[in-house]
Amino acid sequence: MSKPSNEEIFEIQRKINIVDVIRDYIPLTKKGKNYFGICPFHDDHNPSMSVSQEKQMYKCFVCGAAGNVFNFVKDYKNINYYEAVKEVANKVGISIDIGTYKPKEDIKFKDEYDIYDLSNKFYQNNLNTNLGKIARNYLISRDMNDDIIKKFQIGLSFSDNKLTELLLKKGYSKELLVKSGIAVINNDGKVNDIYRNRIMFPLWDTNGKVIGFSGRIYEGKDQSKYINTMETDIFKKGSLLYNYENARKSILDKDEIIICEGFMDVIRLYTIGVTNVVATMGTAITKEQLNLIRKLTNNVILMFDGDSAGEKATLSFIELSKDIDFNLNIVRLEEDLDPDDYIIKKGKDKMMEHLSKPINAFDYALFNLKNNYNFNNPEDVSKFITSIIDKISNIEDDVIRDLEIKKISKLTNVDSDIIKSKIKTKTKEVKVEIKPIIKFKENKYDKASKLILFNMIRHNNIIQYYFNNLSYLPDEIDRRLASEIVLFFKKYNSFNLVDFITYLGDNSELVKRVSYIDSLEFSENYSMEEIDNYFDTIREFSNKKQIENLQNKLKTETNDVVRKEIAKKIIEIKSKM
Ligand code: UTP
Ligand code: MN
Repeated sequence: MSKPSNEEIFEIQRKINIVDVIRDYIPLTKKGKNYFGICPFHDDHNPSMSVSQEKQMYKCFVCGAAGNVFNFVKDYKNINYYEAVKEVANKVGISIDIGTYKPKEDIKFKDEYDIYDLSNKFYQNNLNTNLGKIARNYLISRDMNDDIIKKFQIGLSFSDNKLTELLLKKGYSKELLVKSGIAVINNDGKVNDIYRNRIMFPLWDTNGKVIGFSGRIYEGKDQSKYINTMETDIFKKGSLLYNYENARKSILDKDEIIICEGFMDVIRLYTIGVTNVVATMGTAITKEQLNLIRKLTNNVILMFDGDSAGEKATLSFIELSKDIDFNLNIVRLEEDLDPDDYIIKKGKDKMMEHLSKPINAFDYALFNLKNNYNFNNPEDVSKFITSIIDKISNIEDDVIRDLEIKKISKLTNVDSDIIKSKIKTKTKEVKVEIKPIIKFKENKYDKASKLILFNMIRHNNIIQYYFNNLSYLPDEIDRRLASEIVLFFKKYNSFNLVDFITYLGDNSELVKRVSYIDSLEFSENYSMEEIDNYFDTIREFSNKKQIENLQNKLKTETNDVVRKEIAKKIIEIKSKM
């Protein structure tokens, strides 16, 4: 087991800027001294997370998530603390060896992830063997070169059971292999590979871990084109978008996402340098997927297949995302083509032209709806306007709404004022102030504890003073926090919050609490008299607690001598109070 020392981690922390790192994951906007973004740790709708460059900390004032750069990466990517340290270190060109260090707590579904990681490597290797030649030729015939094969980790399954055999040999049970969707059990109890003779496309979760496959046939046409991993503990098709982790940086840089139906579309667009692309993989968009998109950008281009199924999917996406503040634009490709075929057939330039002038979603929906009505028939016109009125009311921007009304007026020959009169100007939704989820019980003891901790993290002498004169706080977490502050101070002979949070590392309970304490708006000035008062308040609590405990003992104690002693102690404590 090897893990970096605190000092090494302090060093890394000093070399990085938390703002740059968090920007790789979520968009941030500067407001005053701090940066703000949508908090990725709860279902956030307003930017509730602030990132302080000065303090090198982030904090969500709704859900209480808080910490330094390592805590952020750890929780965002759902990896262990030292993996996060390693990842951050890599960003500034420091390579550290965390060796075989494994945290005490187990990663959930670790075996399942490992099985998929191994299978992915196994399939990729198959494609390079002699027997993989036909599959390789198929890929070449589809204009897929080695770079693409590597980038998208494309592999191959044979019609044997070698993968299952390998995994069994590694010690995974038959049951687990079947449960993870990598093997299938026969009537005779033998387990076989599920994927047979297919080109294997790995599917990654939003952290870039392989959690499933889509296998495509490449010879013959008798079976279904793609077979996907069934829903398992780690594979939920509705919670991922193909290529999300790969495309993250590019989406953030361009502040725009392109959404296609198939992963072949994503791959083909990559070959012409369009990299901010993900795919829904042929299913209706889910709320979870919309949230994944929203976390990265509001500017969305939908480029589904050019056929009527793609048209339906486009309209359904517009409908499902209507409550989200997307700037949603649509590309419709001619001749029923999907983006992959379109690029092959028409070339890069034509594709780029489409992407540079998409139609706004409202116009698209309007245009589409129009086809269902006959505008020479007044009744149809009236029905059409009724059907579109909700969509117009939904447009928040007054100017855009007015322009759309004019368009409809022109389209239908109905006066703008009449259309306007039909719009029940939606009363703007009153934004409800979200109350913080964590409520800290506020009594005088808690307040005194907060004030003591607040001053300890600001003034080194108070740390020493606390250690010499009190060394106790009522709340267990506060007590642990204070004793860690003391330990840190003794070890490093001074205290600073940034390093202290790094020192706390994986202890997110204490990281959150100290971040919260730090953010309290108490006075930065103090007097020793005040501090003494806080200490007295805590002593009062401690005495009360002791008396309570002694009185409880008294209730059950039958030995008179002991009872007398207890009573004496109670009197002693009371006299001190
Ligand atoms: P398409 O049928 O449009 O596939 O399905 P495609 O992208 O054009 O693939 P190629 O070019 O024929 O190889 C779009 C998506 O729907 C899912 C896949 O994820 C695919 O990328 N799909 C399609 C399935 O899951 N199963 C199928 O049988 C077909
Ligand atoms: Mn295709």
